[in-house]
Amino acid sequence: MEKQSNNSKSRKTLRRIGWMTAFIVVAAMVAPLSGYVYVAMAQSDEPAQQAQPADAWGGVNPRSEVWRQARQAYEGVTVVQGPSANVIMSSSGETFRQIRNGPLSTYAPWYMALMLGAVGLFFIISGGGEKLGNASGKRVPRWSLFDRILHWYVAILFIALAVTGLSLLFGRAVLIPIMGPEGFAAWAYAAKNIHNYGGAFFVVGVVLMIVAWMRYNIPSKVDVQWFVKGGMFGKHAPAERMNGGEKAWFWLNVGAGLIVSATGIMMIVPQFFESRELFQINLIVHAVVAILWLGASFGHMYMATLGAPGSMDGMIKGHVSKEWAEVHHDIWYDEVKDQEFDAEDAAPSRAPEPKGSPSAA
Ligand code: HEM
Repeated sequence: MEKQSNNSKSRKTLRRIGWMTAFIVVAAMVAPLSGYVYVAMAQSDEPAQQAQPADAWGGVNPRSEVWRQARQAYEGVTVVQGPSANVIMSSSGETFRQIRNGPLSTYAPWYMALMLGAVGLFFIISGGGEKLGNASGKRVPRWSLFDRILHWYVAILFIALAVTGLSLLFGRAVLIPIMGPEGFAAWAYAAKNIHNYGGAFFVVGVVLMIVAWMRYNIPSKVDVQWFVKGGMFGKHAPAERMNGGEKAWFWLNVGAGLIVSATGIMMIVPQFFESRELFQINLIVHAVVAILWLGASFGHMYMATLGAPGSMDGMIKGHVSKEWAEVHHDIWYDEVKDQEFDAEDAAPSRAPEPKGSPSAA
């Protein structure tokens, strides 16, 4: 009877994970299409434009001569103050364009496909992590309400920034053929604003996450043994509150989070830069680190769902089964087993918060 209810609970959790994953995938695909709605609305508001004759300049575009000269890096005269103010077109811009549209745009999709493929292959070979159930009927508090809100706040913003950032990087090549130039122009405008404003909120979340969870992630000898014993590949090895893999993911978040945040803020306030070259280098560093981080996040998402079933209970409900705690974090379980409570008391209004958390009474 108890076993049956455990099975139905884990089926429910799996269903919830399935729906969440489907939602994220569908949102990532559908969001760009909002560009069409934008264009349709903009067009319905505008009076019909006069059609231009195809050859309005008699065969020669008078602006082309100006651009031809600008490309020679001539210096002109301007009332604008600031570095490189008199340079109409910087030749380093061409080098930047070649890096952005060359190696960056070529290797980034391969890297992401490789990471996704590696996770998929690992799942096919291993069949996913063991489903431990909750035969004991005992639960252990793991993540406070504050921790959970913080985690999902950062995770949702991360996905929104990834979708909009990739749209800006690959939009011309990937989205214009799908949406058309007008649809993409409208989506790019929205994506740029979501990316810039969302980025500012994300920085706050990353800093809070570092401060709140640093204490759980101090590296120790146990973590080295966790890696040596194959914890990475699903082998059960002794672990503290966070295991070696989770600590590695946390510190990657700290490093990548700080670099991506700092380079992002500097681009929102470009007065930081002495020269255009520095701005261009900054943009490449921002994109490369963000893409490396995104690829690594596939591993985290896998481990948190299919790799170690039961983990999501912690990040959704705040508590995990005694069985999960014993198998995945035995050293931590020994420290917190006095906080154990019955599964019947697991309703959100009654489940206790972990001791020492900001939201614990
Ligand atoms: C949307 C997919 C995601 C899912 C399903 C997910 C799920 C989880 C779960 C279940 C845990 C708790 C693991 C445990 O109790 O041992 C966790 C922890 C964590 N997650 Fe996520 N997560 C996702 C995305 C993200 C993203 C995008 C970030 C960062 C940008 C992130 C950062 C973290 C961090 C830093 C921890 C704590 C690790 C530690 O302190 O060592 N997560 N996640």
